[in-house]
Amino acid sequence: MSDATVVLRVANLTAGYGGAPIIDNVSLEVKKSKITAIVGPNGAGKSTLLKAIMGVIKSTSGQVSLLGKECTNMAPEKLVRLKLAYVPQVANTFPDLTVRENLEMGGYLRRHGVSERIEELCVLFPDLRKSLRRKAGALSGGQRSMLAMARGLMLDPEVMLLDEPSAGLSPILQKALWEQIEAVAATGVGVCVVEQNTRRSLRHADWGYVLVQGKNRLDGPAHELLHDQEVIDLYVGRMS
Ligand SMILES: Nc1ncnc2c1ncn2[C@@H]1O[C@H](COP(=O)(O)OP(=O)(O)OP(=O)(O)O)[C@@H](O)[C@H]1O
Ligand SMILES: [Mg+2]
Repeated sequence: MSDATVVLRVANLTAGYGGAPIIDNVSLEVKKSKITAIVGPNGAGKSTLLKAIMGVIKSTSGQVSLLGKECTNMAPEKLVRLKLAYVPQVANTFPDLTVRENLEMGGYLRRHGVSERIEELCVLFPDLRKSLRRKAGALSGGQRSMLAMARGLMLDPEVMLLDEPSAGLSPILQKALWEQIEAVAATGVGVCVVEQNTRRSLRHADWGYVLVQGKNRLDGPAHELLHDQEVIDLYVGRMS
């Protein structure tokens, strides 16, 4: 697979919670080894979009395809087997289990190689190694975000959906977390990140999509969007 390979394609997806659609005709692409950022104001439908891709809520029209295979409205557990990982915005670790147990749970579908994969992830996330025996609930916010990502990586996904991984972290920890996301993409994973911190996510992403009121507003190379007057106007006061 070349680096330009599209690993996740969303075409004209419409979904919601039973009433009016929350995301409306949304399209996007995620490429292998690249970071795709979806930015937009509170309530724009960013989390809803990830839930619709992951089959957590049903889409009413449009398509999702993973590695060229159509998978619209497939059950989340099937999508996990097809190498799609999803780290939700909340409740993404088990606080009463240790870090190692959380990782083992993340690898529940592996027939073998669980300890080896934990070892590899401890190389990628060095902070987790010294915390393997601690309860996840006792970790700092930054460590917990890393654990949530590492859990998602236990099954060697090709595509990873991250919902607000840096929410609530200090600027220094946000930077560290983004460096980790870059390291994950460098291993060949196509990463799709939803974030409220527009400036930081566009700084680290390869491609950005701006979502407003459930619709695609604009997209382009992330560094270009950073200097786009419309993006600046939409997020004035939010750039940090
Ligand atoms: N479970 C739900 N049932 C009904 N409506 C919901 C549900 N979850 C979200 N919504 C509505 O969908 C809209 C989009 O919410 P969503 O959580 O997708 O936005 P978001 O862009 O992720 O926002 P934030 O940046 O605050 O996380 C909001 O109007 C919200 O009230
Ligand atoms: Mg959200």
